[in-house]
Amino acid sequence: MDREDADQNSADLALIGVARANAPTGPILVSVCITCKAADGATVVGPDMFESVKAAIGTSGYVQVRPVQCLSVCKRPATVAVTSVDGYTFLFGDLQTDSGTAALVSFVKSYQKSDYGLVPWRERADVLRKGMVARVPPMRWSPDDGSAPK
Ligand code: FES
Repeated sequence: MDREDADQNSADLALIGVARANAPTGPILVSVCITCKAADGATVVGPDMFESVKAAIGTSGYVQVRPVQCLSVCKRPATVAVTSVDGYTFLFGDLQTDSGTAALVSFVKSYQKSDYGLVPWRERADVLRKGMVARVPPMRWSPDDGSAPK
């Protein structure tokens, strides 16, 4: 991903804004584990993922990328979480730097315009469908039957 792509992603993420009444108000936080190791147990893959995601998403302010040390999904590196104060929390594993970064950029764009940040399945890249570890609804979405928003 070159600088021009990162600038465009940053501009896109800053401009999408709130497209639906129940979309997250932001900021959106992308947490990238920087201590994940590859299956060989020696190669640390987290920092590359963090740098790639940070460069791709840019610095719109509306979306923030931060490093974290362990998301407790250590057997499925690299791992990333996407959340916001009033939107769903998603946790992904098994991400490769290039394909994972591209998928996350697309996912975050969908997240910020989706009700409660619940990105529709059809808008999730295959690597995120396969790499899904968890999705947790926000406090403001707590119906008695536990259903997801439609
Ligand atoms: S070291 Fe990355 S999830 Fe634990």
